[in-house]
Amino acid sequence: MAEDVEMVDLDGVSSMTLAKLRKVGLTTYEAIAVTPSREIEDLTGMGADTAQKVTQLARDKIDHGFIPATEVLEQRKLMLRCNTGSPDLNRVLGGGIETCAITELIGEFGSGKTQLCFTLSVLAQQPVEQGGFAGKVCVIDTEGTFIPERIKQIAEARGIDATTILQNVLVARAYNSEHQTILIKNLPQVVQKNNVKLVIVDSMIGHFRGEFIGRGTLSDRQQKIGACLAALLRVAEAFNLAVVLTNQVQAKPDTAYGDPNKPTGGHVMAHACTHRIYLRKGKENTRIAQVIDSPYLPEEKARFAVDAAGVIGCEQ
Ligand code: GTP
Ligand code: MG
Repeated sequence: MAEDVEMVDLDGVSSMTLAKLRKVGLTTYEAIAVTPSREIEDLTGMGADTAQKVTQLARDKIDHGFIPATEVLEQRKLMLRCNTGSPDLNRVLGGGIETCAITELIGEFGSGKTQLCFTLSVLAQQPVEQGGFAGKVCVIDTEGTFIPERIKQIAEARGIDATTILQNVLVARAYNSEHQTILIKNLPQVVQKNNVKLVIVDSMIGHFRGEFIGRGTLSDRQQKIGACLAALLRVAEAFNLAVVLTNQVQAKPDTAYGDPNKPTGGHVMAHACTHRIYLRKGKENTRIAQVIDSPYLPEEKARFAVDAAGVIGCEQ
């Protein structure tokens, strides 16, 4: 987890190299240490030897070995949880959407994935005492479904100044999977500069599914998705921020029993995401969310509703 070092001071590294690191947002020992040196090369254009040297120096600066679990416990206390708007959903999430983790929202069209992302874009900006992250939000919109008017409506319905909220949501429209990948790889820079505490990718797999057609392209596609997810998890851990991804479901007609709808993205997606939450439509404007895979959250169900204020509790 990031211990905020304003600007690194690495012995024997030239100021030009430091400037290159700073330019791409690699301004903490943690951010440098967790980024593979090959990626530092690509991002900054520095030579392989220099990239390896800075990575090694940064790793030396932080305690990169084994630490007692008690210390891990202390570190995890710094993790924050963001209010989702629904008390019941917060409950099954152990308090809310967590930092240092990737939370994946899975569901068919209209299940509320984007609505929850909009609501989080407002609530994550609230002070920590009020269940927020007190930070900005970065949205990678791959489907053209980012609607600022809806965020404005959600903020206003909650009595929150909508102009400030919209100013603090940084949006990038990703036009294809390569563009999406570049935006993800550049996140450290944006996150660092803007105190971003929530990164949303809505949706994560859409472009990859549309562009990589046929069996022969599958391993290439999965490898590329895997690299994006690894970069997202690094950002989450290095900057103590939350990553929320949306994912559609795909009908598997050969399913003999159980739900025939499977999340897209295969095993790569399943393994990389810390918490997987399955959203389903309920009666009228209600929705059901179920934790389907998590290292410590029980597989419980929660109910929430969607109205003008975005995601709200069903009891409201
Ligand atoms: P895809 O992106 O198509 O996969 O779906 P999604 O899961 O992102 O769906 P989304 O979150 O956009 O949910 C859309 C649904 O939210 C609509 O069908 C409405 O039921 C509900 N919704 C959206 N806006 C409003 C609103 O202003 N008021 C109310 N009451 N419901 C809304
Ligand atoms: Mg959507």
